[in-house]
Amino acid sequence: MELYKEVKQLTLEEVKKHDGVMEKTVWVVIRDIVYDVTEYMEDHPGGSDLILEHAGKDGTKDFENTGHSNDAKKELKKYKIGEIIEAERKGKIKNKEPKMETNSDEIQSICCLSYLFCGLCG
Ligand code: HEM
Repeated sequence: MELYKEVKQLTLEEVKKHDGVMEKTVWVVIRDIVYDVTEYMEDHPGGSDLILEHAGKDGTKDFENTGHSNDAKKELKKYKIGEIIEAERKGKIKNKEPKMETNSDEIQSICCLSYLFCGLCG
């Protein structure tokens, strides 16, 4: 049984080839992680063109600026194929995936619990 699966390390040069033209597959980089979104493109609610614009490139800024939901971020995870080699990464933290928003109900319940706990402790 395989306990630890090594993540494929890719260079920006390699990713560049996967622009849907040079190579038929479409890869995008988001937060130093490489995703093969060839299959997903046609289903993208924002249209395939928006993804094609970032084919073979870093799409972090536009992916984040278009305010994708947690569902979109979960969907994205399914297409991970590797990550950018350490020397070419933009972020300092390895393996950063798009952050999920914490919803305000969750924060409220955490606050309530803390009050209760503090009250009990005196
Ligand atoms: C790479 C650059 C990308 C850009 C510029 C982009 C842009 C957009 C835009 C403008 C919308 C809104 C569409 C509308 O409301 O009519 C949208 C929605 C969406 N996108 Fe993207 N997108 C990108 C990549 C991706 C990727 C790679 C995934 C997942 C694999 C994804 C998943 C979704 C989903 C699920 C929605 C529906 C709304 C939501 O749940 O946030 N997008 N996108």
